[in-house]
Amino acid sequence: MNPFVSYTNETIITIERHILEEQKYHPEATGILTALLYDIALSGKYIASRTCRAGLMDILGATDNFNIQGEQVMKLDELADDTIYRLNDHTGRLAVMASEEHSDIMPIPEKFESGKYVLLFDPLDGSSNIDYNAPIGTIFAIYRRLSLEGPGTLEDCLQPGKDMVVGGYILYGSSTMLVYSSGNGTHGFTLDPSIGEFLLSHPNIQIPKKPKYYSVNQGYSMYWSEGVNKFTDYLQGKDGQMKSLSLRYIGSLVADFHRTLLSGGIFYYPTDKKDPKRPTGKLRLLYEANPLAFVMKQAGGYASDGHQSILEIMPQQLHQRVPLYIGNRELVEKAEEYIRNFDDKE
Ligand code: AHG
Ligand code: MN
Ligand code: MN
Repeated sequence: MNPFVSYTNETIITIERHILEEQKYHPEATGILTALLYDIALSGKYIASRTCRAGLMDILGATDNFNIQGEQVMKLDELADDTIYRLNDHTGRLAVMASEEHSDIMPIPEKFESGKYVLLFDPLDGSSNIDYNAPIGTIFAIYRRLSLEGPGTLEDCLQPGKDMVVGGYILYGSSTMLVYSSGNGTHGFTLDPSIGEFLLSHPNIQIPKKPKYYSVNQGYSMYWSEGVNKFTDYLQGKDGQMKSLSLRYIGSLVADFHRTLLSGGIFYYPTDKKDPKRPTGKLRLLYEANPLAFVMKQAGGYASDGHQSILEIMPQQLHQRVPLYIGNRELVEKAEEYIRNFDDKE
């Protein structure tokens, strides 16, 4: 029996092997990027191990804390946030972190080395769904630091999405998936809990050309602009221009995004006049819209704030919000057209 012949046709590609192969697109990364992505994958495994038992442990429900967004912090938000910070604060790979759950940047403790990357993250996306066992996720973006040495700065975090090195998310659903791009395609990995490894299951994801679903919280349509309402009528086939799309809305951005990526269609969270404190809608640029826009672009789609590419926006604040239209390019550009024709003329 020839010891060198592989006896299974399947090539088992772990996320580590895949990232190493991706490394050649980032010669300056010298293995640090691989290790950083491994740490994020490890965070995902740990959070997954807790979410699947949430009902049995005292981690459901809300804490007494409210975050910068004015939202009550769920216990699982805090657990995920703490997990990601603690798995990355001592590795010497990061200069600074920033999280949805912290108003300011999160410095690397002085006792640890500062590294050359920046990690921005939404530790747990879809918190409102935690207690109902609906899919939730983690979203992350990695940049090179701009500051030359010492502790990372706010400017290191306020970089446009087009300069991202790696963007991705972990989806805690019926299976746990990690989807990421380092600028060379978008790739999906599924956690095999029996061996505790993320294995390549969706190489080179491309959003299907034929859209299938549209995804928006239609309960807020009374707060939308005329352009957004007319765009929604268009998606429903009301003006006869296209066959109506089915509506799917889970209320967890990562889950609604992942379905859009694999099925084709569009997800949007428009500007709404529901909450004067949030004139540009609910979703945050740095750790929700940007990483998903980066992943979607690599999968052949497009993401806009209704007027311009999300990835071109120069961030001004850590928690700045943007309207988000993301999915098949022709649908996102159709949304921009309705907004231009009906709203911008106001
Ligand atoms: P987070 O749980 O990180 O605050 O994000 C929640 C977001 C996003 O996941 C989802 O798309 C959106 O909230 C749903 O908002 P609505 O309930 O207003 O539709
Ligand atoms: Mn979120
Ligand atoms: Mn969150």
